[in-house]
Amino acid sequence: MNSSVTTKPSPSDVHHMRAALALARRGLGNAWPNPAVGCILVAPPEAGGHVVGRGWTQPGGRPHAETEALRRAGARAVGATAYLSLEPCCHHGETPPCAEALVAAGIRRALVALVDPDPRVAGAGISGLEAAGIEVVSGVCDDEARIVNEGYILRETAARPLITLKLASSLDGRIAARSGDSRWITGAPARAAAHALRASFDAVVIGSGTALADDPRLTCRLPGMEERSPVRIVLDGRLRLPPDCHLVAEARRFPTWLVTIAGYAAERTRVYRDAGLEVIESPATDGSPDLTFTVREFADRGLTRVLVEGGGTLAASFLRAGLVDRVAWFRAPRMIGGDGVAAAGPIGIERVGDAPRFVRTFLAGIEPDVVEHYRHET
Ligand SMILES: NC(=O)c1ccc[n+]([C@@H]2O[C@H](COP(=O)([O-])OP(=O)(O)OC[C@H]3O[C@@H](n4cnc5c(N)ncnc54)[C@H](OP(=O)(O)O)[C@@H]3O)[C@@H](O)[C@H]2O)c1
Repeated sequence: MNSSVTTKPSPSDVHHMRAALALARRGLGNAWPNPAVGCILVAPPEAGGHVVGRGWTQPGGRPHAETEALRRAGARAVGATAYLSLEPCCHHGETPPCAEALVAAGIRRALVALVDPDPRVAGAGISGLEAAGIEVVSGVCDDEARIVNEGYILRETAARPLITLKLASSLDGRIAARSGDSRWITGAPARAAAHALRASFDAVVIGSGTALADDPRLTCRLPGMEERSPVRIVLDGRLRLPPDCHLVAEARRFPTWLVTIAGYAAERTRVYRDAGLEVIESPATDGSPDLTFTVREFADRGLTRVLVEGGGTLAASFLRAGLVDRVAWFRAPRMIGGDGVAAAGPIGIERVGDAPRFVRTFLAGIEPDVVEHYRHET
């Protein structure tokens, strides 16, 4: 970790770092398996002090943010200050390390929000800059950067992605009527917001019950954003997913994974593989794919941020397993009643004090509905 902080960040440093973090957010949902990073290059005062390069991690994780910003800045990077939402990489992968590129471009100062938890970096990117005589200030806006990178950090440190449970319920916490009909509980503006939310996730997960009841597409259907659709994942222990459903039919266009129980009707998985789905075989727990195993498989495949979109049985399993980090709740001004489908099935809580608790981080009206975001209280 950097030990030679020589200058405190100024208000303008914080301003530029926040801009770098805003650029980083653009990559959420499409930079995986790499972290979503933002980079701003600012010319030295004698050269005008203007922003000369901006970059963020491109789809699929490459080019990196620094490469993009340096390309835009060209010779104007000489003497510049770099604002980096994450420590630059220093290992030789498919592209040369960004720390070396920043040194070669002649930057004079670097502000870094967070040390990269990837053991191949872990402070070595910062040391590389310092060894080349660049002044480095680290930890600038680190709390904000941690929120942007929380999925990537969890994958590196806990071998699983960040998991957000998203549901749309009535005021009395029902996600469907007694017949299973759930279209539509919320209004069009809330549904558009839910599609935009999908674009910031690497993958969307549902249970087979929802796949059978709703035949959903799980894509991001906002104008111009279909290509931002996440990987679609169905947890289907008994291979009940109909071969003619939307998820199977469109699997070659939108990546689709199916998680089932290892060895269960193995010959039938061929139908799905032939249609272009990736099949993940999990050990069973209580007769269903094991969630701890499943989320580790997600991390192994590079996912950093996963949105669990129900239904109630799957939501309960994730809650029981202690695997809900964030909640995105859309609430409609309707009452469906106790014979409707509960937002979460049984989770076996005996005492209120034992129920998982969440802290609200966001609240907004999306007429006529309300959206709330929560984080798990640890
Ligand atoms: N309003 C909303 O936001 C919303 C969102 C989604 C769904 N819905 C509604 O909810 C209803 C469906 O909910 P549901 O509870 O019946 O089904 P679900 O939660 O979508 O799916 C449950 C099924 O998923 C499979 N599964 C695989 N792995 C699992 C695991 N580890 N834990 C739990 N389940 C696992 C199980 O079937 P196998 O044993 O066959 O694997 C299980 O029966 C529909 O009416 C739908 O319209 C509403």
